[in-house]
Amino acid sequence: MVLMDGKKLANTIQEDIAKEVLELSQRGVTPSLAVILVGNDPASQTYVNMKAKACKKVGITSILYEMPANIAQKDLLGMIENLNNNNNLDGILIQLPLPAHINTDEILESVLPHKDVDGFHTQNSGKLHSGISGFVPATPLGIMSLLRHYNIDIKGKDVVIIGASNIVGKPLSALMLNAGATVSICHIHTKDIDSYTKRADIICVAVGKKNLLTKNMVKEGVTIVDIGINRLDNGKIVGDVDFENVSPLCAFITPVPGGVGPMTIVSLLQNTLKSAKARASRISLSL
Ligand code: GUN
Repeated sequence: MVLMDGKKLANTIQEDIAKEVLELSQRGVTPSLAVILVGNDPASQTYVNMKAKACKKVGITSILYEMPANIAQKDLLGMIENLNNNNNLDGILIQLPLPAHINTDEILESVLPHKDVDGFHTQNSGKLHSGISGFVPATPLGIMSLLRHYNIDIKGKDVVIIGASNIVGKPLSALMLNAGATVSICHIHTKDIDSYTKRADIICVAVGKKNLLTKNMVKEGVTIVDIGINRLDNGKIVGDVDFENVSPLCAFITPVPGGVGPMTIVSLLQNTLKSAKARASRISLSL
């Protein structure tokens, strides 16, 4: 069994990003990211702080906008419009989930697609499903980088994704399909999940329920990507896989923490850098 060390790979990628950021900054284009956090959900605050810290480490300017939980839809839209019009800004990230009174779809659609480093705008998700280059959501992008790093073949493989969210499951299924896999997406209404997971070559699980995937659900030699984040009463973080009993059966598996999480963050940095490079080439074209 090989542990896929996302922390180590993310650190290596970060070093490369830092070099490119420095080069761009010296040419007058400092990559920059606006992060909008609405309300005071502790998990969201943690994620946003981790993203800001990672930006700082590679030289990307990040600006955090902390807005009250009761912000009006139109005020949030107005803020995003200002950020859209700021020519020195490469990325706009709105931390999800947003409070219930906010229309999330409308907010995500209001971000200019070329600043949508989260890849949540329908223009970017449409491109992804058509196999056209655009911004890909950070978690699925990070998973594909991790699998590529460990030379894991995807073409012709049976891939099962558990969880059909817009943030992870759906975009990941598109990436896997584009890479030549036969993809099944299981979700809350799936009748017999075991019948899918037992024949899977690669299982990606993103539900948020500890011990969801157990050893009797997988075949020997499977590759498992655990995207779950669950905090136990003792403060320990675990994924969705019964790691102790499942990992001995695996060819490859990601640990939690230290697997997908760091890859998600570094992929956001990659997307921000990509946006800044596009800005740099727009500037040089107009000179
Ligand atoms: N909430 C959970 N995951 C994410 C993510 O990748 N991006 C944003 N913006 N919010 C999230």
